Amino acid sequence: MTLIPQNFLKQVASGYGVSDTEFEVLSKALLEGESIATIATQLKLKPETVRKRLGETYRKFQISGKGPGKMAKLQQLLVALYQEQSQSEEFLPQTAEPKTSSLISRQDWNAAPDVETFYGRTKELSQLSQWTLSDRCRLVALLGMGGMGKTTLAVKFARQNAGKFDFVIWRSLRQGIQLRSILNDLLEFLSPQPLSNFEEVETGISQLMEILRSNRCLLVLDDVEVILSCQDLAGYYADGFTDYGKFIQRIAEEPHQSCLILATSEKLKDLGQLEGQKVRSLQVVGSEEISQKILAERGFVVSQDWVSLIERYGCNPLAVKIISAMVEELYAGQVGDFIKNTLFMGDVRSLLDQPFQRLSLAEKELMYWLALEQQPINLSQLQEKILLPLSASELLETVGSLGRRSLIEKSQKQRQTYFSLQPVVMKYAIEQFVRQVDEELVGLIKNQDLSGIRLLKLYPLETSENSKKHYSILDLVMNRLKSRLFTNTRGLNLAIKRLEESLSNLQEEFFEGEYITQNLENVINAIQ
Ligand SMILES: Nc1ncnc2c1ncn2[C@@H]1O[C@H](COP(=O)(O)OP(=O)(O)OP(=O)(O)O)[C@@H](O)[C@H]1O
Ligand SMILES: [Mg+2]
Repeated sequence: MTLIPQNFLKQVASGYGVSDTEFEVLSKALLEGESIATIATQLKLKPETVRKRLGETYRKFQISGKGPGKMAKLQQLLVALYQEQSQSEEFLPQTAEPKTSSLISRQDWNAAPDVETFYGRTKELSQLSQWTLSDRCRLVALLGMGGMGKTTLAVKFARQNAGKFDFVIWRSLRQGIQLRSILNDLLEFLSPQPLSNFEEVETGISQLMEILRSNRCLLVLDDVEVILSCQDLAGYYADGFTDYGKFIQRIAEEPHQSCLILATSEKLKDLGQLEGQKVRSLQVVGSEEISQKILAERGFVVSQDWVSLIERYGCNPLAVKIISAMVEELYAGQVGDFIKNTLFMGDVRSLLDQPFQRLSLAEKELMYWLALEQQPINLSQLQEKILLPLSASELLETVGSLGRRSLIEKSQKQRQTYFSLQPVVMKYAIEQFVRQVDEELVGLIKNQDLSGIRLLKLYPLETSENSKKHYSILDLVMNRLKSRLFTNTRGLNLAIKRLEESLSNLQEEFFEGEYITQNLENVINAIQ
């Protein structure tokens, strides 16, 4: 048994990217000296699972070798780290702030999904290691259609290699985050002391570049296509996001020791010009291996029918997940019947139209909650938050049904089950949500009809100031509304007037516990 305190172990382990479930096993093995069999019994797991989690932990700490020697090596490493930290603390004046050892990389995974099962992609992982670790690329783009597995690959790579960087930060641009907010957010996390607020975005970029020069950071920006314009040709930044161009260019061209990984389903137009020695792109394509393993995991025998079906969808892992759920639910597992009865829809987003239309109202509205929530959430948190008229058992049923459709993902944290949406599904649900809210607002502006209002009552449209998530659903709604309605000042003033009238009608009726008043106030402020 060692003298390493549990909280120290926890801190170091998370620094090396060890997940909560792996930590649970590690701490029993290392601190309590339990055997694999005992841990398996205590945690109600199969011994193989315990072994797998320990194996994963060794790999994350980069402990190689065979057999029981590995635990001893890990112990030695931890004791050394612990002693080093205690010694450096003896010479430091006591401060209120908890100190972190410089040996422990600091990580902020934010909304990065947990990757519980990961298949294949050995070539891609070694390509990424080569580029980021050996060739010291400053910018690496992961490109590929929605659902191909860019996010999954990026999480896997970043988790595996987290220990090789001083800092690891993951951010998704899914909600159209402004560069200014991202910079503030990154600087707050990365900077050793508070920096003065920058006025010009360019100054913020320079402050970040300074940190990227003096530290080895791994930044991952996911869902970058969201900041690209849907109207223009592919790859141009949307209005309000053009300053990302400068940011990406500086990361690519200035010398520093960090790496930015971008995951996007649409290639940025600047990337072509920047590609070279320090800037690379990796095309994440469909994989038969992953698709077959996903099918096997669901209990399907991979017949010729299956092979031809998954090929039609380019072996896209998300498509395979959704289709296999549909085959199971609608065709009692008979893939041949599915092929006969379903039109081929091509890409995954259009594949989602059909399952989405089939959802019950409760399912759809629960999906909106999960999409707006962004983070995995457990049942009791959900129940506390949502304004939907569902009992606990109905909620459980709805969650279960979405799970069967493969639209929801489950993960375990501290023995609780958390739910979140598949990332592509989340983007799709947000789009649908924004579209419907926009229609409700247009309805209000055109004829002040409050009877068609539903989402505006049930969901808060968060602004970037009051959202902890550094994004704003309100901005997304406003972008859509503005591009459709307010082509001139007269139209704008009229819209404000109509919404203000609706608001005062509302106040006479008084909707208790609903978000509509706050939402309309936010929209009016955003128009002005
Ligand atoms: N290597 C893999 N092993 C197991 N499952 C995978 C793998 N790659 C992808 N998947 C599964 O496929 C689904 C889609 O993957 P992912 O979200 O990573 O795609 P994406 O390319 O990031 O999509 P988008 O462009 O919409 O963000 C997820 O449910 C994921 O778990
Ligand atoms: Mg993704």
